[in-house]
Amino acid sequence: MKSNQWDDYYAQKARKEGYLARSVYKLEEIQKKCSVVKRGGKVLDLGCCPGAWLQFTSKVVGKTGLVVGVDIAPLKHSMPKNVRFIQADVLSMDEGVLDEFANGFDTILSDMAPQTSGNKFVDTQRSLRLCEAALNLSARYLKPKGAFVCKVFQGDGFEEFLEISKKRFEKIKLLRPKCTRKASKEIYVIGLKIVD
Ligand SMILES: C[S@@+](CC[C@H](N)C(=O)[O-])C[C@H]1O[C@@H](n2cnc3c(N)ncnc32)[C@H](O)[C@@H]1O
Repeated sequence: MKSNQWDDYYAQKARKEGYLARSVYKLEEIQKKCSVVKRGGKVLDLGCCPGAWLQFTSKVVGKTGLVVGVDIAPLKHSMPKNVRFIQADVLSMDEGVLDEFANGFDTILSDMAPQTSGNKFVDTQRSLRLCEAALNLSARYLKPKGAFVCKVFQGDGFEEFLEISKKRFEKIKLLRPKCTRKASKEIYVIGLKIVD
């Protein structure tokens, strides 16, 4: 058995490649399969800390693009110039915090995860509230041809969330990236193009 189960192949790879978290390989796989982030695009990354997805999307959108990260926690690492950070709780974010982006985002990502309580039901419900908040923001800020990526924990309420998402997007895909830890119940709901 390995000395530290969290320091696995992907954690080591992330360190070697200068990424802040192994979760970057989840988004990398989503990007390879679904091309959710475009060069020159504007991306909203909800629950962005410590910042691996910011690092990745910043490279994909390039100098002409913009990545706006939001997290309840502070961002502790410096980021490239095309990244902006807003410290806020997505569940109680002031209307108007995102007003300057009223023209909309090409991509909205949510990798938000609540602090776990140890109670499976409570944790699933907390996660669902974050997913619903992300979906509501997509209704307001995602461009019609945009892409929505949301981490969801499979459990009570998951099927309902999926059904609502299916009504909002022309195409829905479910993806469980290869680097997801075996014990994790998470899966990504990917919505492409808003239904008219
Ligand atoms: C798994 S981490 C995201 C990792 C990130 N994608 C990366 O690659 O670095 C989940 C994040 O969700 C954030 N989060 C949880 N609840 C939140 C909330 N209500 N509002 C904003 N961010 C939240 C946490 O603070 C945490 O940083």
